This record gives sequence, structure tokens and C-alpha cells, in this order.
Amino acid sequence: MEEKKILFSAIQPSGILTIGNYLGALRNFRKLQSDYNSVFSIADLHTLTVKQEPANLRKNTYELTALYLACGIDADQSILFAQSHVSAHAELAWILNTICYPGELSRMTQFKDKSLKHEDNINMGLMDYPVLMAADILLYQTELVPIGADQKQHLELARDLAIRFNNRYSETFKVPEGYIGKSCARVMSLAEPQRKMSKSDANLNAFISMDDDPDTIIRKFKRAVTDSDNKIIYSPEKPGISNLLSIYSAFTNKSIEDAEKEFAGVGYAEFKVAVGEAVASVIEPIRQEKNRLLNDKAYLDEVLKNGAERAERLAYRTLSKVYKKVGLVPRKRG
Ligand code: TYM
Repeated sequence: MEEKKILFSAIQPSGILTIGNYLGALRNFRKLQSDYNSVFSIADLHTLTVKQEPANLRKNTYELTALYLACGIDADQSILFAQSHVSAHAELAWILNTICYPGELSRMTQFKDKSLKHEDNINMGLMDYPVLMAADILLYQTELVPIGADQKQHLELARDLAIRFNNRYSETFKVPEGYIGKSCARVMSLAEPQRKMSKSDANLNAFISMDDDPDTIIRKFKRAVTDSDNKIIYSPEKPGISNLLSIYSAFTNKSIEDAEKEFAGVGYAEFKVAVGEAVASVIEPIRQEKNRLLNDKAYLDEVLKNGAERAERLAYRTLSKVYKKVGLVPRKRG
């Protein structure tokens, strides 16, 4: 690999992805990928922290591989791989567990939210999830981690663990920085604009899936919750309209101010259709390309195989350094 800084990020193959994942993550991955040595992972081990149907998990893993590619991730230039294919992730997570305290994990917002949502399955993995995420990042000597705002707390933990390990055992890990886009770092629900848009929302009208066809997208935007006054302006008092303006601005590359001017005097109904059309015009080609790629499993397997081989070489460089520093006797081979 060329001498550039390393970028790492990952997405869970936990079913439907939304335009929140696209705007908060995938779109930035594509923008940044050539300025860095970029490593993108399919965080399949992370998904096991909530109950998964094994056949669905396998299907979702291919879906996400195809989606990464359809969104413009170049598997030759960047590394694209499945987390479970590189066992160093689970191994480093174990070592990091030994320098992480339960209090640091039990106070994580996502752990608390998910514990409420999955009351019947509050397992150790759910709590330990951020440590595995820290291992993902630190294994690659990552300097930049593009994420949506909801992952910021987890990134902070990765930084803390890197610093703690370096202080205890001498300089080993780079301390990563987060990259959180200025706009759309938190795309909100179309039904309850005070809440984050989430793929696990029971109300299908609350999110736009990357699998929605143009008619569905426009129909969902038509139903988006707004307010009773008819002004299209960005304001904390107008969370629904502000969310739609942010989405429109992101999908058209126009500034919020320009969008406000464009829709001055226009009614909500017309505005919502315009937002839907702008989103559909970007999502539809991606959806079609993803579906085309899904028909070629052999190609997707080849991408994952190559990605895992390249990721593994980088990962084991860091892992063997870590094992040595903590005092494990190196295995003799040959
Ligand atoms: P995940 O799979 O929930 O989401 C993937 C990415 O999408 C972003 N995102 C959003 N951005 C804006 N608005 C939204 N409504 C929205 N919803 C989701 C997330 O912030 C994320 O960037 N733990 C991670 C996966 C992970 C990871 C990592 C990320 C595992 N290891 C190492 C970075 C580095 C997660 O569950 O993301």
C-alpha cells in the first residue's frame, strides 16, 4: 500500500440500511477513500450481540458487500472485508478487555438503549461491543474513522483504550480521530423527527431504506411529519422541516440556504415530493447496481477473500506487536 494515512470504518450487516447510514457513513467513505489507505469492514461479529437468524445474517453480509461496492467503494484501491474473516479482531478485543472497566461500558448510551430494546437478551457481547469496535479500529493503526454522530462515544472509548495501552506498555497504537460530517451526521426519523432514523424502527414510514424503490421513497416523504405553519426554514423549532432540508441539501449538494431560497413560498406537499425525487434519483442507481452485483456471488466471494487476505497482513502486524508487549511468548513456527 502507498504511504498514506489509514482510514477505517465498518457497518453492521444487520438488515436494511437506511439513508442515515448512507449520509452519515457510506457517502463519506466514498469521498475520503482515495485520500487515505482505506479499510472498510462488514461488522458481522457485532451483529451477534442481538439475536440473528443465521440464514439472514449470511444474506445480509452479501447484501452489505454489494451495497458498499454499489456506493462506489473500490475493492482494488481500498480493502473491503468481513470482520469474522480476520480473527485478529476478536483476539485484540480480548487484550483490550483486560484494560477496560465495566463502568466505562455500562454507561454507553447505545448499551443502555439496546438493553431496553432487547430486555430478554442483555448479553456480555452487547456490553462489550465497543471494545470489539476499538479493536477493529486500533488493529490498522487507523488515523481517521468516518462515522455518524451516534458512534462518537464508542470512538472516544477506542481513543481512551489506545492511550491507556500506550501508557502502560509503551507506544503501540495510533490514537484515531473521528470524522463526523458537518451535515447529516444524525439523520432523523421521518415519523418522529426528534429521534434518530433507525433501521430497526417498527414504523416502516419512519425511515428510507436503501432498498426502497422511487415510488416508495416519494410516498414515505409525502407522509413525513412536519408542522402546522407553512414555512420551509431550518430552525430548531421545526425539526421535521429541518431534517427534510438537510436531506435535500445532502442529496442535491446544495446549501441549506440555497434550498430555503428555492422553496420560499412553496407549500409543504410540493416540497416533500421534491425531497423524495432528489433522494430517489441518487438511491435508485445504487439499488439497481447492488441488485446486479448480488447476482454474482462468486465475484462478491472473491472481493471478500482478497479483502481478508490484505486486511489480515496489516492486522497481524499490530496484533503480534501487542502480544509481545504484554509478555506472551511468540509461537515458534516451522
Ligand atoms: P451501524 O451499522 O449502526 O451504522 C453504520 C454507520 O451509519 C451511521 N448511522 C447514521 N448516520 C447518520 N444518521 C443516522 N440516522 C445514522 N444511523 C447510522 C453510524 O454512525 C455508522 O457510522 N458500531 C458500528 C459499526 C462498527 C464500526 C467499527 C464503525 C463496528 N466497528 C469500527 C466504525 C469503526 C455500528 O453499529 O454502526
